[in-house]
Formats: sequence, structure tokens, C-alpha cells
Amino acid sequence: MIIQPKIRGFICTTAHPEGCRENVAQQIAYVKSKGHYQGPQNVLVIGASTGYGLASRIDATFGAGAKTIGVFYEKEADEKRTASPGWYNTAAFESLAHEEELYAKSINGDAFSTDIKQRTAELIRKDLGKVDLVIYSLASPRRVHPVTGQVYQSTLKPIGKPFTGKSIDAFLGEVKDVTIDPANENEIANTIAVMGGEDWAMWMDYLASENLLADGIKTVAYSYIGPELTHAIYRDGTIGKAKEDLKATADALDKKLKSLHGEAIISVNKAVVTQASAAIPVVPLYIAILFKIMKQLGTHEGCIEQIHRMMCDHLYAANPPARDAEGYIRLDDLEMQPDVQQQIVALWPTITTDNLSQQTDVAGYRDEFYRLFGFNIPGMNYEAEVNPVVAIPSIDTVSSN
Ligand code: NAI
Repeated sequence: MIIQPKIRGFICTTAHPEGCRENVAQQIAYVKSKGHYQGPQNVLVIGASTGYGLASRIDATFGAGAKTIGVFYEKEADEKRTASPGWYNTAAFESLAHEEELYAKSINGDAFSTDIKQRTAELIRKDLGKVDLVIYSLASPRRVHPVTGQVYQSTLKPIGKPFTGKSIDAFLGEVKDVTIDPANENEIANTIAVMGGEDWAMWMDYLASENLLADGIKTVAYSYIGPELTHAIYRDGTIGKAKEDLKATADALDKKLKSLHGEAIISVNKAVVTQASAAIPVVPLYIAILFKIMKQLGTHEGCIEQIHRMMCDHLYAANPPARDAEGYIRLDDLEMQPDVQQQIVALWPTITTDNLSQQTDVAGYRDEFYRLFGFNIPGMNYEAEVNPVVAIPSIDTVSSN
């Protein structure tokens, strides 16, 4: 099959196995260039196939030599369709880890379900004994509640009043005003049910009840705060409410884990191009301006650079810096520098369709978006035939719903 990108709205419906492999190989090379560190040994990553979760898995494996179990929900290829990028990423990650005799196994299915939790617990018990780090990095539009069977859909809406602001279609290169009506109570509750902390707590409580958490266990989930410009749609919107719930969950888990000398932490990360962030109105334009400024300053980072800092400078550092007033690890420190944010605020009102490509890094945004799916990798021949069917060496796949 000759595999080319097919963009539909803010998703790409194809992925390139060799391009995805190259993305993973580059992240591994970055971690190796930083040298080995004393870090976690037995790691569970929930949401391990793309974005921040994949970076966490790669960093723990190739930086600290950890054994990892990755849970995710990805599609295998068939005769007509390529696999999803997370499938190809994991195939590459596992085979590159196994080449170095590093343990890596994966479970593909709905992490919100009881079945996947049970399978994961069995695998931990059989192969690892206990885990000492659990990364919770799910980003999903939907959750089926494992007890009630109720289906929740998350929404990305403001709360209280409509929001009108600038947004871009990065592929058409157009700036337009969007108006988004506020969420109702039901939509807020649904978003909290999907992206809040209940499922993280269910994972941790279940693993604790099965005696699978090591003494000193750490668990980390990821959040975003961002600047005033995005607050109406993010921090003060439905997703922000879900992130507040995630924080309350972290605080409750932190108390519970004290009996194991453990901790539950939220790391606030920088805005990056992932499948999850592309879906949020306003955010792609913000990212396009942010990237331009941070690249000029030489402070631009992707997932892997930040996660490496999280592991080495925060979680496993001998003398980690203090967390912020609310107890967050702040990997968004470089994004939130006052000079960066002042430049964004100044540029924001001046951006139009005509000056978008000069004033912002919309080209860099597009490029990174394509790269998520294995496209736009320099030197890769996208006219060549490639076999879309790629196996993940150690996978347990379950179609839960
Ligand atoms: P992503 O879309 O790249 O990755 C999501 C992961 O969740 C994938 O591995 C996917 O397979 C898995 N997943 C989704 N639904 C699942 C299900 N039902 N069962 C099992 N696995 C499932 O997302 P990204 O951007 O890496 O987000 C991860 C976390 O980081 C989220 O909490 C997000 O809010 C947070 N974050 C993201 C930022 C961004 O700019 N992308 C910035 C700061 C925080």
C-alpha cells in the first residue's frame, strides 16, 4: 500500500508505520543522549501509545532501564485501512526495547473497563510483582462507566457564557472567529466523568487492593493550565472542571498512598500538538504563536524533553525543586515565562488569515500534526509501497465495546 495523509477536520485517518517508527526512534535517541538515570523500575503507563504517555514509557525504559506495561486503545490495520499511529508507535517501541532486552508488554483495550484493569493486574502480578510508578495519561472523548454502563461524552465548551474568539483551520491556513455556546450542567458532569479523576482512582484502588503497588509508589497524571487567552475554553471551561476533579483525586490518592510511603502527583505540562490538543478550539492558534516565540528563544520542547525533565529534575531527583503552591510539578514553566506570554498577548489581536504564516509558526504546527501520524519525516519516501500490517510483539488485544 502507498500511504499518504488523509486529513478529515482535525484528524488524519491514515498513519505511516515507518514514519511512526522514526518518531519513536528519535525520542529514544533523545533519551539515550541524556544518559542513564536512577529512576523507576516497574512502570505501568495508562495511555501509553501517543503523546505524553508514550514519551513517559520511552523515557522510563531507555533512561532508567524500567520494565513497562503499556495500556492504550488503538486500531490494528486491515486490508483497507492503516493502523492508528499509536499502534505503529507501540510496535516500534516494543521491538526497539526488545532488541536491547528491555521488558515491554502492552494491553490494547478500553482502560475504563474492569476487564482491562483485571488483565493488567494479572500481567503485573505474573511478570513484575509490583509497580513503583503508574502514569495516567488518557485523553478520550468518551467513557463507558464500568459499574453503571452509562456512556459519557466529553465536550470542550465554556461555562456560564458563550465564548467568541479567534481560531484557525491550520490546514486551510484560515483565521476565523468562532462562537461556542456554554455547556449545560449535564455536559459539565459528562466531561468530568470522562476526563476527571474517577477512573484514575479506580485504577489505583484496584491495584492497591490486589497488593500490586510497591512501597514508595508514585503515580502521576497530566494537566494543563495555560494563559488567560485560553482560559475561557480551557481552564474555566468543561475540561478545566475535569482537571479540577483530577487534582482533587490526586490529593485524595496522595493521602491514601502515604501508608505505602507513596505519592500522587499532577504534572502541569506545556501545550503541544497531539491528537487530543488539536480538537480544542483556540488552542491550535495559541500553539502556533507559542511555538514561533519559543523556537526563537530556543526554549521550545516537545513531549519527550518535558517528560525527561519531569523524571530527572522532579520525580527522581535527589533535591527536586519545590512544587508550586498547589502542589503541582510545573513543566509548563518555560511556556508561562512572562516575556513569552507578553509577546503572545501582543500578537494575538493582529493575526489574520493574510499574515498567519509570517506571524505564527502555523507551518510548524501543521508539520508536527503530520508527524504524529508518521508523515513529513525528512528522508522518508512516501511514494514507496509499505506493508500496513505491523505486529506488536507482546500485545493482548481486547475489544471491550
Ligand atoms: P494523546 O491523544 O496523544 O494520548 C492519549 C492516550 O490515551 C493514547 O495512548 C490512547 O490510546 C489512550 N486512550 C484513549 N482512550 C482510551 C481508552 N478508552 N482506553 C485505553 N486507552 C485510551 O493525548 P495527550 O495529549 O498526550 O494527553 C495525555 C494527557 O496529557 C491528558 O490528560 C492531557 O489533558 C494532558 N496534557 C496534554 C497537553 C497537550 O497539549 N496535548 C498539555 C498538557 C497536558
